Amino acid sequence: MKKKLIAGNWKMNGSLASNEALLRAVLDGMAQQAPACDVAVAAPAPYLAQVQALTAGSSLAVAAQDVSAHEAGAYTGEVSAAMLKEFSVRYVLVGHSERRQYHHENDSLVAIKAQRALAAGITPIVCLGETMQEREAGLTEAVVKRQLAAVIHLNGHCISEIVVAYEPVWAIGTGLTATPEQAQEVHAVLRSQLAAATEQPDRIRLLYGGSMNAGNAAALLAQPDIDGGLIGGASLKAPDFLQIIASVK
Ligand code: 13P
Repeated sequence: MKKKLIAGNWKMNGSLASNEALLRAVLDGMAQQAPACDVAVAAPAPYLAQVQALTAGSSLAVAAQDVSAHEAGAYTGEVSAAMLKEFSVRYVLVGHSERRQYHHENDSLVAIKAQRALAAGITPIVCLGETMQEREAGLTEAVVKRQLAAVIHLNGHCISEIVVAYEPVWAIGTGLTATPEQAQEVHAVLRSQLAAATEQPDRIRLLYGGSMNAGNAAALLAQPDIDGGLIGGASLKAPDFLQIIASVK
């Protein structure tokens, strides 16, 4: 059976000192109580080497928050999938709503980023989700299907290798969480869309993200199509992150 995945997204937070303290506390907790799930942390690019070194030999996987759509060359400021691979990066977020919103990333760019990651042997965590305005207009299903369709279209049979994270934009960093039923409803839509694209849709892990915390994680993770979580704010506090990990049964 596939393991659930709990991934922390540190976003643009941290320092050498605070990362070390956080990672040591998380690793300690994981050593005391072995997780029943896979665990990863997505660190800012300059800290990947630090995270690689501190997590070496542990079951805590290194993740990155973004990857270039280009392979190599004159793309100032970009970080390629091959570079990430050198730092033992196992997962990379693509299409996070903050990148879609602030960096104008569109569905086709996100699909290319997923393709770059897959080609380098890194699992893309494809983030998607609707805004509150879209939800209120009854467009949730259409929006998430459109976002996922672009990735399916470009990546064909490799699609069974991806992870999908449903993150309703209105739930990110707001303290508003989708109810387990709301999240499950969207996850079921995504699962059936994947079923039309691959013979093994159940292999694909569908994470929920958006104000997931120690208090609400268990109920969300109990839903049949919720295979893990992508955690922002609560992943910066070791006890909270560990409690979310422990809520995976
Ligand atoms: P919060 O958990 O802080 O709402 O962030 C969710 C998120 O964007 C994870 O990628």
